[in-house]
Amino acid sequence: MKILSIQGSPRKNKNTSALLSEYLRGAQQNADVYNETVYLQPMDIKPCTGCDACKTTLDTCIIEDEMLPLYDKVKTADVLVFATPIYWWHMSAQLKTFLDRMYALDFETGFPGKRFVLLMTYGGEDPNTGAQILEKSMQEIMEYLQMQIACIYGVCTGTTPMKDNPKALDKAYELGKQLSL
Ligand SMILES: Cc1cc2nc3c(=O)[nH]c(=O)nc-3n(C[C@H](O)[C@H](O)[C@H](O)COP(=O)(O)O)c2cc1C
Repeated sequence: MKILSIQGSPRKNKNTSALLSEYLRGAQQNADVYNETVYLQPMDIKPCTGCDACKTTLDTCIIEDEMLPLYDKVKTADVLVFATPIYWWHMSAQLKTFLDRMYALDFETGFPGKRFVLLMTYGGEDPNTGAQILEKSMQEIMEYLQMQIACIYGVCTGTTPMKDNPKALDKAYELGKQLSL
């Protein structure tokens, strides 16, 4: 099973990264699981311009940047993991830019049958943090892309950082293990 994890937090080793790592540690208990994590922050991935070339003249994106090699990685993955902090009731801008650029993939062949995991960290107080809005948004997107949601998990980091929250780390690990059952 091939997992492609997209780490959407600009902070490389903070809450979102800790959540993702623990989830993947659980998933990789199964020897057949291979993961590649893409850390978006330092990458040159430009915003979609809506030129529609990908839907008309080309079968890929016209923008030549570091998104181009990621298309094949998305296509060949069995599971796509989005890990993001909640920024203003939604995903980080880094991850949204990646998602917009995924528009260049063929919706009929690029996504159906794959599984999707959404991991979120947020500082606010439940339930008004934005996590529910992002969850609902991704549910609708996954239905549209005919992808199956394997897991959605969010952790509040407002009072306790992820690394100091053994309960949430354990839960992430267990959820990861379930991915390969
Ligand atoms: C620009 C910005 C916007 C944020 N917006 C929200 C928000 O809407 N809801 C929330 O609960 N937390 C919000 N937060 C808090 C982060 O989601 C939270 O601290 C998260 O755990 C940070 O993840 P990281 O450690 O991977 O950077 C925001 C933080 C920043 C920097």
